[in-house]
Amino acid sequence: MKRFPDDFAWGAATSAFQIEGAIGEDGRGESVWDRFTAEPGRISDGSDASVACDHYHRVEEDIDVLRWLGVRSYRFSIAWPRVLPEGRGAVNAPGLDFYDRLVDRLLAAGIEPFVTLNHWDLPQALHAAGGWPARDTVGAFVDYAALVMRRLGDRVRRVCTHNEPWCISTLGFGRGEHAPGERSWPRALAAAHHLLLSHGLAVDAIRAVAPAAEVGIVLNLVPAEPASPSAADRDACRAFDGGFNRWFLDPLYGRGYPADVIADHRAAGHLPAGEGPALPFAHDGDLAAIAASTDFLGVNYYSRAVMRSTTVPENENHAATVVASDDRTDMGWEVAPDGLLAILRRVHVEYAPARLYVTENGAAYGNAPDASGRVRDVPRQKYLWTHFDAAHAAIAEGVPLAGFYLWSLLDNFEWAEGYTKRFGLFWVDYATQARLAKDSAHMCRRIIGANAITSLERDLAEVEA
Ligand code: FCB
Repeated sequence: MKRFPDDFAWGAATSAFQIEGAIGEDGRGESVWDRFTAEPGRISDGSDASVACDHYHRVEEDIDVLRWLGVRSYRFSIAWPRVLPEGRGAVNAPGLDFYDRLVDRLLAAGIEPFVTLNHWDLPQALHAAGGWPARDTVGAFVDYAALVMRRLGDRVRRVCTHNEPWCISTLGFGRGEHAPGERSWPRALAAAHHLLLSHGLAVDAIRAVAPAAEVGIVLNLVPAEPASPSAADRDACRAFDGGFNRWFLDPLYGRGYPADVIADHRAAGHLPAGEGPALPFAHDGDLAAIAASTDFLGVNYYSRAVMRSTTVPENENHAATVVASDDRTDMGWEVAPDGLLAILRRVHVEYAPARLYVTENGAAYGNAPDASGRVRDVPRQKYLWTHFDAAHAAIAEGVPLAGFYLWSLLDNFEWAEGYTKRFGLFWVDYATQARLAKDSAHMCRRIIGANAITSLERDLAEVEA
């Protein structure tokens, strides 16, 4: 039996845009994702998030689901355009009230609220005024963060600024796969900088209004390995790790942007070459602000990357991911629980955040209800169990890992994949909005209740029994 620490924060995670629906209700403004989903060809099944899981109208039911699961904490995000329809200025009272009530209801159910301030749904009005590539958006985010925490900070004890700035900048502005769908590396790098800067400045603003709250940021991190020992593959690995992990970790922990990655971007024409400043968007004092000391780092972990070099010119860092194994989820992501241990260990050794949380981990598998209405999602059970085991190993090594959040509570709107990928512990029947506990939910309920794992065979057998 492997026990977790007594106060380990077992949780489930969601985000506003992926579950709430009700996009036109109670004064909510438009977000970049509303605009993006409306563009033909952007979402694989042509869907949008206007209904999603209808969570906006089903809060009580969803809190019952959380309570049944036994989680101690719930990580959810606040939809910025619900609170500030224009991104700044006039507050939409019903929007802020919605989250105020959610917090109260969670606390009444004995579940700790963990707030994400920006899980990608930037108000469209702010994007129209320049969005993340523009420095003005920094102040708008800091004001929004302070506004929300001034209202909720008497009850919310844990808050993160941004979820996955890599996705917002690289997928949104570099690769054009996420909102707003642009393909411009200079703009992606400016967006990343403004996300980091707004994080650092928001940390201070949040502390000023909510001194009791732990504050941090959530990064998606991917440990990388070279596909072969060749110099070219090792360099591809360095470049991938630099762009994905170090570009965010280094400045957050006071090291500035990594010089090798700056050189890559200059060589590729993403940053100006020559004598002038390499990072035209970085002003004096920005790096110090970005390195604001935080209470925790949230790590979203799904898979590792095995890298080989490529000469494809449009590839941003001349590095391509190799298909390393047949054990893959419906996203095509390799199942690699050892990578979770590797990345937690590395972050602890190299950057030493005060505390770590796995803020997301989970897997997309399509297992549907059988004739008896049961969802036998053995692949998800195995995926989660082996990642719990990796988390336990990290704690045993001395990594200050304080919690683990399951992605996701419900099947939901998976961004560019629409409703085609199901990450939920609960099956959502989108026609009726019924929620149905999958076998993985039963397994997690037992493990959370016991605060321990035994063995994969035994924990699976208990669900079967
Ligand atoms: C992460 C996102 C989350 C979800 C999972 C599968 O990148 O934070 O919203 O889509 O991936």
